[in-house]
Amino acid sequence: MFITFEGLDFCGKSTQIQLLEQYLTAQGEKVLLTREPGGTEISEKVRSLLLDKKHLGMYSETEFLLFSSARAQLVREIIIPKLKAGYYVLSDRFHDSSAAYQGYGRGLDLSIINSVNNLAIGSAVPDITFFIDLPLDKLNERKLAKERNQLDRMELSGDDFYERVRNGYLELTEKTGRFELVDGTGTVQEIHSLIKKTVIKRREMILEKSGA
Ligand code: TYD
Repeated sequence: MFITFEGLDFCGKSTQIQLLEQYLTAQGEKVLLTREPGGTEISEKVRSLLLDKKHLGMYSETEFLLFSSARAQLVREIIIPKLKAGYYVLSDRFHDSSAAYQGYGRGLDLSIINSVNNLAIGSAVPDITFFIDLPLDKLNERKLAKERNQLDRMELSGDDFYERVRNGYLELTEKTGRFELVDGTGTVQEIHSLIKKTVIKRREMILEKSGA
C-alpha cells in the first residue's frame, strides 16, 4: 500500500507517520518511510534549493517545477521499486502538496499542475491520503514556538497564503475519494488510532477487491 500524509506545516504529520510506521513494523510488515521534497540524493539537493531562505526571489513556476523534479526522481528510484517489493510506502507529503501549495496557494493553473503531477508520479497513485487539518490559529501557535530565524522559505509565507492552502486541501478532500480528513486538533493518540483503523479498513477493501 502507498499512503501519503498531507497538511499545513506544523500539523503533526511527521509524528503520525512515525507512529504508523512503528505499528506496521510491529505487525511484521515491511515499511519504507520517505518525505517530500527529498528522499533521494538528487531530491535532497533540490530540497535545499527550495527551502533556502536566501532564495526569496524564487518564482512560483520555478518552485513548482523543482518540487516536481524532486518527485519524479523519488517515485522512480524509491517508491515504485519498494511497492513492487511488497513494502508499505509512507510518504510525508506527495503530489497533493503541489496542488494545495502551488495551485491553491500560489495561484498556478490547477489543470497544468495536475498534468505535471501525473507525469511526475506515473503509476504511483496513493491508496490513501490523510489530510491532517489544522486551523490557522493553531498553525500560528506552533509556528511561534519555533524561532523566527529557524523558519524555512516556505514557512515564511503569510496567513493569506496558508488560508488558501488549507481551503485547497479541504476542496481536494471533498473531491477525491482516496482522501481521509483527520482533525489535527485531537490528541496524538486519538489521531493515531483513527489513522490505524482507516488503514486496516482500506487494506481489507483492497484485499476483497483483489479476491485475496
Ligand atoms: P518541510 O520542512 O518538509 O515541512 P513539513 O514538515 O511541513 O512537511 O518543508 C516542505 C515545505 O514545502 C512545506 O512548507 C510544504 C512545501 N511543499 C510545497 O509547497 N509543494 C510541494 O509539492 C511539497 C512536496 C512541499
